[in-house]
Amino acid sequence: MANKLHIMPSNCVIRKINWKNCDKNGVPRDFLDIKKFFNKGLKTKSFDLVRRRNKITYFEIKKIWLNSKSNTITYVAYSKKDGHVVGSGTVFSEGYKGEFHITLDPEHLGKGLGIIITKKTIDEALKRKITVIVDTSIENKGMISVMKKLGYGHGKRIKNYDPYVNNIKAKTFDVYQWRIKPK
Ligand SMILES: CC(C)(COP(=O)(O)OP(=O)(O)OC[C@H]1O[C@@H](n2cnc3c(N)ncnc32)[C@H](O)[C@@H]1OP(=O)(O)O)[C@@H](O)C(=O)NCCC(=O)NCCS
Repeated sequence: MANKLHIMPSNCVIRKINWKNCDKNGVPRDFLDIKKFFNKGLKTKSFDLVRRRNKITYFEIKKIWLNSKSNTITYVAYSKKDGHVVGSGTVFSEGYKGEFHITLDPEHLGKGLGIIITKKTIDEALKRKITVIVDTSIENKGMISVMKKLGYGHGKRIKNYDPYVNNIKAKTFDVYQWRIKPK
């Protein structure tokens, strides 16, 4: 039976990242679009704890994405209206372990894209026998809800999660973490 949660908003389409449409440095144009809305900030209705101190730069995009070309799974959501990127989900993997990240255009929150992008990206990683790790702030109600709705339950609570406490220099940063293993 079709599940309400997995219905794509009719004005969007999801595809794997297009590595063929690149700029002169080999950076996919999709990533440059992702950069634009990433720089709008990660504020959502209930969650504005993590804000980047600086805007993400072209150099960072190039370094992160091109270095990981062979070991990323990325799905991109496009608006059907103008073809612009409105969200992306990525698993960066090292061997048989990978970290999941998602980002959405703030104007496209709450339409079900989060759940669809998360599902597609994680499913693809599991198919490739990769154990997927998802971390999110305990205050990120949206992401927690997405994970619960996908049947992964409540993640394990980790106090003062190092990567974030160090990266964003927060005093405290508790996360929920899910480790999703392939069958
Ligand atoms: C977290 C995120 C991916 C959720 O995506 P989304 O498309 O807005 O969420 P969906 O529309 O798929 O919603 C799925 C469920 O989560 C709930 N939800 C979404 N955002 C919520 C919020 N801020 N507070 C409470 N519930 C929320 C929805 O109500 C929905 O449940 P429903 O079907 O019962 O209505 C999105 O907010 C986002 O990209 N945030 C910024 C980046 C980020 O936080 N990334 C995660 C870091 S791991």
